[in-house]
Amino acid sequence: MNIVMIGAGYVGLVSGACFAEIGHTVTCIDTDEGKIATLRQGGIPIFEPGLDALAARGVAAGRLSFATDLAAHVPLADVVFIAVGTPARRGDGHADLTFVGEAAREIARHVSGFTVIVTKSTVPVGTGDWVERLVAQERPDADIAVASNPEFLREGAAIDDFLRPDRIVAGSDDARARAVIEDVYRPITDRGAPLLFTGRRTSELVKYAANAFLALKITYINEVASLCEKVEADVRDVAYGIGLDHRIGADFLSAGPGYGGSCFPKDTLALMKTAQDHDSPMRLVEMCVSVNDARKRAMARKVMALFGGSIHGMTVAVLGLTFKADTDDMRDSPAIAIVQALGDAGAKVRAYDPQGMAEARRLIPDIAYADTAYDAVRGAAACVIVTDWAEFRRLDLKVLARLMSGPGLIDLRNIFDDEEVAAAGLVRVGTGMPQPL
Ligand code: UGA
Repeated sequence: MNIVMIGAGYVGLVSGACFAEIGHTVTCIDTDEGKIATLRQGGIPIFEPGLDALAARGVAAGRLSFATDLAAHVPLADVVFIAVGTPARRGDGHADLTFVGEAAREIARHVSGFTVIVTKSTVPVGTGDWVERLVAQERPDADIAVASNPEFLREGAAIDDFLRPDRIVAGSDDARARAVIEDVYRPITDRGAPLLFTGRRTSELVKYAANAFLALKITYINEVASLCEKVEADVRDVAYGIGLDHRIGADFLSAGPGYGGSCFPKDTLALMKTAQDHDSPMRLVEMCVSVNDARKRAMARKVMALFGGSIHGMTVAVLGLTFKADTDDMRDSPAIAIVQALGDAGAKVRAYDPQGMAEARRLIPDIAYADTAYDAVRGAAACVIVTDWAEFRRLDLKVLARLMSGPGLIDLRNIFDDEEVAAAGLVRVGTGMPQPL
């Protein structure tokens, strides 16, 4: 199959490189000339484990290439995937479909022969209908079918998620589009992944319903964690205990500082807005959004509580700035709210992250940064662990304790064992476990 992938962000790049890996010929297109130049020189503009080697293999095999202009490539394509960003629109929280609309019009101008246009970006219910109308306005003679095929990969585990997914979901009422999509994914479905084919609107909704459900699951365990702190219970065991019931499942029950990232915050908001617009409000999702927002800043209060309510003038180290480990993505990271709240309380923040420093410096310019975790904690009264990078798990807590001026270890992701913390003489404030004071 000849595939054009519009958008060389996380989803577009990973999907493009994976499609090339399973034998298709793929051109990834992005209007960002700098990004395409980097890719053409063998660089990868994002941090995603394994993506550099995968892309290099595709390029070497002659199956993966990069371009800024789709005019030369769309006419040859069997399938054009739209994988552009759909950020939350400023002001109302609806998904912003500007880039999707631009891509659809541009594709329409260049299609030739039967072409399937697939929205891979996360798009609200009814977007496929709209794309179809845009193409028809631009080129009434175009022989196209519009399908939905949401992507479920996670940053940090993207390649494995794509090549070995729990399921593939796609939707269209066009039989030719269905046949093309089945062909595209055959190497993956042959290895056992189920392909669920539904109506287009249903497929669009599956994506939002899945992300909102996962966001609810995290928010639920986070609220259980807060209760654990009050009643001297341990959320790690509660999560394990409930997760053993296969109806609940063990995954996505790690309590922490609240969910962030480029997906859950914007998708919960967009689903909430769609539901309100259709006079079918989703109160649970609305509640999830506000509980999670409040939680991020509340994490700073844990540091203050350890010092009797005031951290004014103290140096506080913050380890982990990205929204989770194994990514360089800072979008809606809980760390941003936590660092701001610590600063508002008068603390001097010194931060470190294995991959997110460049973006962090841009987003939070007014704090100090260190080159290593040990440098960040030097002289700090407290150390706040915001993400669960493997590098932090490997820290020698005795060395950490020696470098710090105070004993506070605010382990928001519960990455250390109780014994390890005690042996180093540190005082640990975890999430969802009895608090030291
Ligand atoms: C999420 C979904 O997991 C993917 O299936 C989906 O494709 C993607 O959004 C998307 O819509 O594109 P992602 O945002 O990359 O993927 O990251 P997750 O691993 O799901 O984590 C999201 C947030 O939840 C992070 O802040 C993470 O730290 C937090 N989290 C996750 C917890 O606090 N506890 C958990 O147990 C799991």
